[in-house]
Amino acid sequence: MVPDVSLIRAAVARAHRVVFFTGAGVSAESGVATFRGAGGLWEAYRPEELASPSAFRADPLLVWRFYDHRRQKALQAHPNPGHHAIAAFVARWRAAGRSAAIVTQNVDDLHERAGADAVHLHGRLFEVRCTGCGRVTADRRAPMPGLDGGSLPECVCGGVLRPNIVWFGEHLDPRDLEAAYGLVSKADVLFVVGTSAVVWPAAGLVPHARRAGATIIEVNPEDTDASDQCAFTVRAPSGQALPVLLDVEPA
Ligand code: OAD
Repeated sequence: MVPDVSLIRAAVARAHRVVFFTGAGVSAESGVATFRGAGGLWEAYRPEELASPSAFRADPLLVWRFYDHRRQKALQAHPNPGHHAIAAFVARWRAAGRSAAIVTQNVDDLHERAGADAVHLHGRLFEVRCTGCGRVTADRRAPMPGLDGGSLPECVCGGVLRPNIVWFGEHLDPRDLEAAYGLVSKADVLFVVGTSAVVWPAAGLVPHARRAGATIIEVNPEDTDASDQCAFTVRAPSGQALPVLLDVEPA
């Protein structure tokens, strides 16, 4: 697949702390659309009209219909071999008394459905937040009842619910950001998988890890903004590459 496989595996086997920083590309082989590039969501839709607080104020039903569609697609999707390889690796590393963690920009729950926990920097598709009382609840209803008839989902307090996603112009939850930077600061190896690495502050994890001394391994069929910071770049879909690269025992 790539000439560096044995070097990558050797670096991974030695690593005591491994972090996976994932983006939309890790779910592409599950049929979940990416944001940028051919077929990306932001080619068909303008983010500021659908994924921003002002869009929600202007037309909450339109925004909800967009997320309802994405929730339905995500519910139909299944974790692919990339998600499974990461989850199995995380379990194996932890069982060996080492550390492995996932920091994702994805709002789908495919890492969890493969059996791993993840820090979700950009929120979660299957959580809703009340615009009135702020309460966050898990919610897997899709289609969301009432949307077809023009009514918005409501909290028990009567407030309008919104998807618990970090929209353009909003701040990431500082607890998530702190957790992500904490993990990456100590990583021996950082995998950067399926992200164009253009959305900040998430993209800042890569230079941060590099400054902290991590070996950075990119898995992405395309060149990205992070590529020149990586010790290894694996130009292949993650569902194909990760099962091979992560077939490693701790050394
Ligand atoms: P992007 O859509 O920007 O980038 C997806 C990346 O995945 C690209 O670099 C592709 O080359 C790569 N890719 C495609 N298929 C792949 C595959 N099978 N295996 C591996 N990589 C593949 O997605 P993100 O970087 O995640 O924010 O986007 C970052 C943020 O921008 C998202 O979290 C979202 C969006 O606006 C919010 O929702 C707040």
